[in-house]
Amino acid sequence: MNSESLLSATAAYVRQTLSGDSSGHDWWHIDRVRRNACRLAHAEGADIFVTELAALLHDIADWKFHDGDETVGPRTAKAWLEQHGVAAEVTEHVCAIIAGLSYKGAGVNTDMPTLEGRCVQDADRLDAIGAMGIARAFAFGGHFGRAIYDPEHPPELHATFAAYKSKGGPTINHFYEKLLLLKDRMQTPTGKRLAEERHRFLENYLQQFFAEWNAEA
Ligand code: ADP
Ligand code: NI
Repeated sequence: MNSESLLSATAAYVRQTLSGDSSGHDWWHIDRVRRNACRLAHAEGADIFVTELAALLHDIADWKFHDGDETVGPRTAKAWLEQHGVAAEVTEHVCAIIAGLSYKGAGVNTDMPTLEGRCVQDADRLDAIGAMGIARAFAFGGHFGRAIYDPEHPPELHATFAAYKSKGGPTINHFYEKLLLLKDRMQTPTGKRLAEERHRFLENYLQQFFAEWNAEA
């Protein structure tokens, strides 16, 4: 199978698998991440094929939906790529990207060792901030029955992945526990630049949110 056919077969497989998701991990999240990852890969000189494949498969079986098991995603991607005769080194690289991609808490380093991994991670994180990030955070919160905000339940900065995984706080806390921290963890120059404006948008949003909450706006 040539690269182009593999990419379209993979897109169709992912679209089918994630259809009906209402937690912010739907096909259109994947499509935005794929487009931004390729944009970053062009700008940074990364391998486009590996970047696009990893972007397409990055949420195929997220730990958040598999009892916290972060090995299901890479294993599912590996089975798909092997089944389609993809070269072993490409499969390994793509699966390593998927395995290392996720945010794991404020105190946990998740820097990516390859340029392609940095492009996919930055693209995934761009989709977690800005207008898109706000929509996704509340979609996720609603999906998992979380409160919007609770002034009696302050945010926590998690030191370990285990602590981050087990949290169940209100959605506004997630802004402080993850979203506002992403700007400084972007790993490509283009990703850092794009994150600036989206970050400002989050800050303005929170300012207005609290002004309204406190009957000041
Ligand atoms: P990651 O792999 O870094 O977790 P994903 O692509 O799986 O990234 O998307 C994670 C997105 O899911 C977050 O950016 C956020 O929008 C949403 N999310 C995850 N946890 C929460 C939470 N506790 N509250 C609100 N949104 C959340
Ligand atoms: Ni994602």
